[in-house]
Amino acid sequence: MRSIMVLNSKGGSGKSTIATNLASYYASKGKKVLLVDMDPQGSSRDWLAARPSGRSSIAGVDGSSGSFRVPRSADYVIYDTPAAAHGKDLAALLRRPQSIIIPVLPSPIDMRAATPFIQKVLENSRIARKEARVALIANRCREHYNIYHQLDAYLRKVRKAPFISVLRETQNYVRAAERGLGIFELAPYSVRRDVDQWDPIIRWLNSKRSQPV
Ligand SMILES: Nc1ncnc2c1ncn2[C@@H]1O[C@H](COP(=O)(O)OP(=O)(O)O)[C@@H](O)[C@H]1O
Ligand SMILES: [Mg+2]
Repeated sequence: MRSIMVLNSKGGSGKSTIATNLASYYASKGKKVLLVDMDPQGSSRDWLAARPSGRSSIAGVDGSSGSFRVPRSADYVIYDTPAAAHGKDLAALLRRPQSIIIPVLPSPIDMRAATPFIQKVLENSRIARKEARVALIANRCREHYNIYHQLDAYLRKVRKAPFISVLRETQNYVRAAERGLGIFELAPYSVRRDVDQWDPIIRWLNSKRSQPV
């Protein structure tokens, strides 16, 4: 069983978008997926409720109370998490996954806000011992906006966590989410570039680099 958590202390960075798209990706590959929504706001639960019955099925669990069961039969357990996880709450969250994806918005303000959070995650004892692995994704990147210079400077600060992909800002994510789908389930010609941007994420998740040492 693979367990993957999408995490950032900030709301609106794309946690639910990335969690639901991962769920849709693995489900559409025939995997048994459990989507655990730990956020009381319930965006992932809403997404699952909107999912058409004809699509590959995804099991959902309300994990917002912190007590729930993960059936052993799942191939992939994907955790969507609430914003503002700090201290004890953060340590409790970090006990669950093998792999952690932190989406960051590529604006100077958001990157600065994310830095202490990322440091805190990296200092967690499980992460320091590589019992769980962390990667960063830049999300909602505007194409006309040259983020690479900024990302570069940022990367130097958070060198211990690899930056694995850049996802562009596109209504494809919004349109898919409204229908309870992932971009992988939209018409291929309209999402080719987005699917390409997910390639390194899936490769990281399939590799040993994302798994406990
Ligand atoms: N790459 C993207 N392109 C366009 N809109 C996006 C993208 N990622 C997220 N969004 C939108 O931004 C909003 C916040 O994203 P969400 O995944 O709910 O963040 P979080 O779960 O971290 O609060 C949502 O309306 C979502 O549809
Ligand atoms: Mg969310």
